[in-house]
Amino acid sequence: QSSRRSYHEKVLDHYNNPRNVGSMGKNEQDVGTGLVGAPACGDVMKIQIKVDPHNDTITDVKFKTFGCGSAIASSSYLTELVKGMTLEQAGRIRNTEIAKELCLPPVKLHCSMLAEDGIKSAISNYYKKNPKAKATDLGGT
Ligand code: FES
Ligand code: FES
Repeated sequence: QSSRRSYHEKVLDHYNNPRNVGSMGKNEQDVGTGLVGAPACGDVMKIQIKVDPHNDTITDVKFKTFGCGSAIASSSYLTELVKGMTLEQAGRIRNTEIAKELCLPPVKLHCSMLAEDGIKSAISNYYKKNPKAKATDLGGT
């Protein structure tokens, strides 16, 4: 039973009931897609955000993670966190916040890093598709 205890209960909860699993049409104009991998282990995470262009707010978010329990839990928790946030707020999320919430041990820190990289990658994909949104954010420059 010691192996069961090695995952914190919050990790198990997200692992057993992951929130916001799925995909969105990656060609849709208001969807940003992030696809990232962890060099340490080869696990892969896809994060997609749907953005309301009027206020730069994330109205929906989906993920698919091919990886360990901590990576799945990190992405599931991330999706709960970013829904309703502006792109700017979501871009400031740090993996340490996620790791702290899920009580990840040091060897699992890179799993939460995947979630931080994933949301950043989704945001930059959205900006790439919608260059005007970025220009507005930077104050019209
Ligand atoms: Fe195998 Fe993460 S290292 S699932
Ligand atoms: Fe590599 Fe978790 S072990 S993402």
